[in-house]
Amino acid sequence: MNRKRKINLVKGMKDILPDEQNYWNLIKQKVDKIAYNYGFSRIDTPLVEFTDLFKRTVGEDTDIINKEMYSFITKGGDKLSLRPENTASIVRSYIEHGMLNLSQPVKLYYFGQQFRHDNPQKGRYRQFWQFGFETLGDNDPIIDAQLIAVSYFILKELGLDIEIQINNIGDEESRKNYLKILKQYYNNKKNSLCDICKKRLNKNTLRLLDCKNIKCQELVEDAPQTLDYLNEESRDNFMMVLEYLDELEIVYNLNTKIVRGLDYYNKTIWEIIEKDKGGKLLALGGGGRYDDLVSLLGGREEVSAAGFAIGVERVIISLHKNKIEIPKIKKPDIYVAQLGLEARKEALKLFEYLRKENFRVIENMSKKGLRDQLDIANRKGVKYTLILGQKEINNKTILVRDMESGVQEILDINKIKKEINKRLSKSVTRSVIKKVKKKKKIVKKKTKKTKK
Ligand code: HAM
Repeated sequence: MNRKRKINLVKGMKDILPDEQNYWNLIKQKVDKIAYNYGFSRIDTPLVEFTDLFKRTVGEDTDIINKEMYSFITKGGDKLSLRPENTASIVRSYIEHGMLNLSQPVKLYYFGQQFRHDNPQKGRYRQFWQFGFETLGDNDPIIDAQLIAVSYFILKELGLDIEIQINNIGDEESRKNYLKILKQYYNNKKNSLCDICKKRLNKNTLRLLDCKNIKCQELVEDAPQTLDYLNEESRDNFMMVLEYLDELEIVYNLNTKIVRGLDYYNKTIWEIIEKDKGGKLLALGGGGRYDDLVSLLGGREEVSAAGFAIGVERVIISLHKNKIEIPKIKKPDIYVAQLGLEARKEALKLFEYLRKENFRVIENMSKKGLRDQLDIANRKGVKYTLILGQKEINNKTILVRDMESGVQEILDINKIKKEINKRLSKSVTRSVIKKVKKKKKIVKKKTKKTKK
């Protein structure tokens, strides 16, 4: 075996490099903030669950279960899978931890990795991140509307131009009636269907509406629509969801072709798509009501639920694509530089002192030359470099270098906190004045132009 052979990243996986982390932090902050306001508590479930959990919930005849699961048998003989999505685990956890006995609804959110052995391409990975919100124990249509609102506002507030596509696949009774009609429609056109749809016709008829094959898509155009077969209860429920969305001025498109790729949904379902500006549009997220999942996993009959998940990598791709600027991480204020062994020991302590006093301070203690350290300080954009050498240690002083002007001052080391604070607040005032002057210049220029 060649021990020095290069080992590459596993296909479909992705490194999240330091440069990208501010995008991730921004999304996490936005998700945490909106979760707090809407009363959702964070939950983290394991990456690994019993394979049966997903088979019974996501559905035996779905792409996820048929083709995309990372499943394995442990040495102890357990059949386990890496989670392809998070909703089933949340429902398992809700039942297992007796959350049925808490005041309802229980509102949970997550931010974590999922695994699907899909064909990798832009926006499609084998390990990817989702954040999601789930509300369990309430069937009021306001819950559906609020979940849609949360999914919409998070992406809107990140600056993305998005579209909500919404459909309703009815309750059990409505769906039964609809599926009967849909099957009849497709049975008459069986020969024109693609091979996959031929197989799905009797097992999972709804998914025929979702097929990407051109011939099948042509058939979808004239297929009966779910909304025409809703019973009164499902119809009233859906009308309320839409009314609440109107109140919130959330623009949605009714799209009777969306069915979602997972089996557990009923009534309201929705997808969040990038707004069409040409090019391939990414589906950023999706969700819906899943009133039967809790009882399917052994919980109480009457616990209805709804939720959604959004793919984080896709959101970041969309932010880049739309050139949306995101807040930069604040630059450090101070750099601690040192020269010689004794100074380095003192600098270690000084750095810790400043860090604990909440200064934005950085260091590179392994560097020995002052030139190197000043170069780093410059690159990082710090305002002041504090320099400690043998002479400063002997005199209990410290050299402070203003990185903009290059002016250096010798200060009493015991007064360092006060002295730095004084300089930092002056430099804040300086930068505010600079900004105001810049703005005034722009206004002047504009008024000159309009006078002309
Ligand atoms: P999903 O539609 O399968 O729903 O996934 C939601 C989002 O995850 C997708 O819209 C997409 O942005 C992202 N996603 C899915 N697969 C990949 C992939 N291979 N690579 C990158 N991103 C991907 C669910 O997972 C449901 N659990 C949503 C839900 C929550 N329904 C109710 N509650």
